[in-house]
Amino acid sequence: MKEMLNQIRATALEKIAAGEDLEQIRIQYLGKKGELTAVLRGMGKLSAEERPVIGQLANQVREEIEAAVAEKAEAQKAAALQEQLKAERLDVTMPGKTTRVGHVHPLTRVQRDMEEIFIGMGFSIAEGPEVEYDLYNFQKLNIPENHPARDTQDTFYITENILLRSQTSPVQARTMEVQKPPIRIISPGRVYRSDAMDATHSPLFHQMEGLVVDKGITMGDLKGMLETFAKAQFGEETRCRFRPHHFPFTEPSAEVDVSCFACGGKGCRLCKGEGWIEILGAGMVHPNVLTMCGIDPEEYSGFAFGMGIERIAMLKYHVDDIRLFYENDVRFLEQF
Ligand code: PHE
Repeated sequence: MKEMLNQIRATALEKIAAGEDLEQIRIQYLGKKGELTAVLRGMGKLSAEERPVIGQLANQVREEIEAAVAEKAEAQKAAALQEQLKAERLDVTMPGKTTRVGHVHPLTRVQRDMEEIFIGMGFSIAEGPEVEYDLYNFQKLNIPENHPARDTQDTFYITENILLRSQTSPVQARTMEVQKPPIRIISPGRVYRSDAMDATHSPLFHQMEGLVVDKGITMGDLKGMLETFAKAQFGEETRCRFRPHHFPFTEPSAEVDVSCFACGGKGCRLCKGEGWIEILGAGMVHPNVLTMCGIDPEEYSGFAFGMGIERIAMLKYHVDDIRLFYENDVRFLEQF
């Protein structure tokens, strides 16, 4: 029996040292059905003198195997950790990965700058649908059916009465319908026209509308406000020029030019030798429009203006082709 125990110890320790599977070894030698247990079970046949000697040896063998298994397990764990540390080593001197951060589109940038200027003057931002009723895009703006002003604003029709808005002016009408004066809003957004694409036209572009309605609003307020805007947008030296014009929804109406910010008004390539650059349309809200939107023109008056965001962006950044804004060529966009 002594022989057997020594044999068990020798082979078990050998296997452990050789790196065989520890769990397997534990079951084979120390488990309930293991070899050591089998030997101990046979102890009943031993004489009274032999029994304690063999018992002690058996315990010793068990302890030795257990200790060897534990020690090997510990060593394996440490080795695995070393492996992992080696594999996952972090070289802090390696150059980092740079993430390329984009930036807003030049049109968004110009729109936000413009919004900032008007917000600074107490305006808030109003929104309206791009898919609009004929009623708001035309009729409530004093452009009845068959009015010639519809020609210059031909757009895309969804049904006979529903269209893609050709201007941001319908937001004027929508705002006046639900809000009592004082009203002071700007409304930036997409507009659509059935125009062929070329260097200065696009079937989709952006406008910013402005509307102020209150008691005693005059053309003087309009002029002062637009001059403040022009100086903030194009520089302190900028002057404004109002030329008489016609819009069905304003009376009187004007087209507004700013003095050329490239040459100061002397005449250059940007202003085509004029010294002035047209930037927007404006006027006093037509009494018919006020009435149709539920505001009494005897009590209130107002002004409105509208401008193209692309136009402002093209002037500001000297972009000579509107299509560049929509093509999303990063070589163009990166420059802003
Ligand atoms: N909606 C006009 C246009 O698109 C611009 C405008 C707005 C003119 C408000 C006057 C007042 O041409």
